[in-house]
Amino acid sequence: MIKLFLLFRRVVGGALDLDDEVGYKTTEVHSNTTFADVVGVDEAKKELEDIVAYLKDPAKFTRLGGKMAKGVLLWGPPGTGKTLLARAIAGEAGVPFRYASGSEFEEMYVGVGARRVRDLFQQAKKQLPCIVFLDEIDAIGSSRSMTDQQSLRQTLNQILTELDGFSSSEGLIVIAATNFPEVLDKALTRPGRFDRHVEVPNPDVKGREAILQVHARNVTIGKDVDLRVIARGTPGFSGAELSSLVNKAACSASKQNKLSVSMVDLEMAKDLIMMGGERSSAAFSLENRKLTAFHEGGHALVACLTDGALPVHKATIVPRGQALGMVMQLPDEDMSSWSQRQMLAEMDVCMGGRAAEELIFGEQNITSGASSDLERATSIATSMVEKLGMSRAVGLVSHGGKGGKRGSRGGGSSNGMSDSTKAKIDEEVRRLTDESYKRALNLLRKHEHTLRALAEQLVEEETLTGQQVRDLIAESVQENGLTSRIGRWLLGVNAQKRNPKNAAAAAQVKDLGERLSSVEDQIQSLTKVATQLAELANQMKEAQASSAA
Ligand SMILES: Nc1ncnc2c1ncn2[C@@H]1O[C@H](COP(=O)(O)OP(=O)(O)OP(=O)(O)O)[C@@H](O)[C@H]1O
Ligand SMILES: [Mg+2]
Repeated sequence: MIKLFLLFRRVVGGALDLDDEVGYKTTEVHSNTTFADVVGVDEAKKELEDIVAYLKDPAKFTRLGGKMAKGVLLWGPPGTGKTLLARAIAGEAGVPFRYASGSEFEEMYVGVGARRVRDLFQQAKKQLPCIVFLDEIDAIGSSRSMTDQQSLRQTLNQILTELDGFSSSEGLIVIAATNFPEVLDKALTRPGRFDRHVEVPNPDVKGREAILQVHARNVTIGKDVDLRVIARGTPGFSGAELSSLVNKAACSASKQNKLSVSMVDLEMAKDLIMMGGERSSAAFSLENRKLTAFHEGGHALVACLTDGALPVHKATIVPRGQALGMVMQLPDEDMSSWSQRQMLAEMDVCMGGRAAEELIFGEQNITSGASSDLERATSIATSMVEKLGMSRAVGLVSHGGKGGKRGSRGGGSSNGMSDSTKAKIDEEVRRLTDESYKRALNLLRKHEHTLRALAEQLVEEETLTGQQVRDLIAESVQENGLTSRIGRWLLGVNAQKRNPKNAAAAAQVKDLGERLSSVEDQIQSLTKVATQLAELANQMKEAQASSAA
């Protein structure tokens, strides 16, 4: 019986690692990561540099009686460098660093998790000064409720107790990281526990460039590579995604026996992460490719000729993921705010695809390719009307619920909106999208010749860079008389805008462009009158001839 019991204990103990005899051993990390390896998150780094400085020389901070924070909570989206920052602190401070992940304390056996927390802090206190890093703390630190498993509640309670059980002057700093700060128990984040909250957000354009540079250090990079362009084209990318981008590009270049990683490899890796792999196996008929070329050509042309639209970076008809083709536009900087002019321009660019289809193939032959464009245009128009006070009819009122999606308002009196307001909003959204479509269609009609040239080139080359698109438009409009000159002016305006130093010149060019445009409109209406007069003259001649006969 005793033998059987011992055997059972060994099996259970072995499989579940209850650590009865040995106690829970945490990992002591010896890190050679430094702050120089973590870039693009300067604010977070600055806060943590303080902690490193404190651990090296506590008196510097506590001289006047102040106390250093005991707990620091790093929070932000996945892959932004929280764990990397913690490793960098270990590397920089040169003090022992104990790492544990929240999931290590998740145990179905009551008391095991709590005991591991106790062990962790005991071990840390033997080596002061020391840093304890609790990664993914939401696994155990979520808000407690009476329905929670008792084991979870005990683990969290033990952490709270441990955090109270030492004073910051002892030299123990606890750093925790999470993607979900909002689910953490209030007791955990109150002053005296994790009272310093450091956000580690996705990097901005400068941060992205710096991160790309850090990861490109160990890669043989070609001379043509401009990491700023890649940084501009990757808004919303996390540090982890940027690191994977460089890695994918490097692997692909070496697979092709290239001597260095070129811009093409990096662009390809970016597209791969953003939109999935190229569907090179998908065979599309020439008809389909033409249709896509006109659709994408429509977007590109409207983008190039509309004041306020973002510069075109690339146009392609190579299918990727769900998309049959795409036009990529890049802002020069990350945009923190949008003007009404820019929003309307963005809507026009969205409408450019469908408008080109209608213009070239007729209304009967328009395709489903514009569904995501229409969604985007509608969402911009809805935001303008519902939330941004950009519709006179609806006024300076914010009606939008969270997300501001159409349909999210539901029926009844949701969001406290009256039926007449809802109807007015719908009407205004419809007006904005209709007007935008008309603008795009008129512009393309005016430059149909150029649209045809652009689509032809896209069918031929499949992918055109922004510069190639602009050159082609300029060339095509040059052959096309006065209308084209206006197009060239507008192209010039858009190109000038990209250089802030040329703002004054751009304003002049724009003014001239507008004046030329009105002259052109006058000429067009005069031409119409002349044609009508000629027709009248013809009819009169015919009438005279028949009466003479
Ligand atoms: N700011 C950055 N500077 C340099 N490299 C970065 C940065 N952010 C992320 N990375 C790269 O991404 C990898 C993953 O980052 P890390 O593990 O620190 O993300 P995390 O914020 O802890 O993510 P999670 O919340 O998912 O745990 C790092 O090893 C590094 O290669
Ligand atoms: Mg992490």
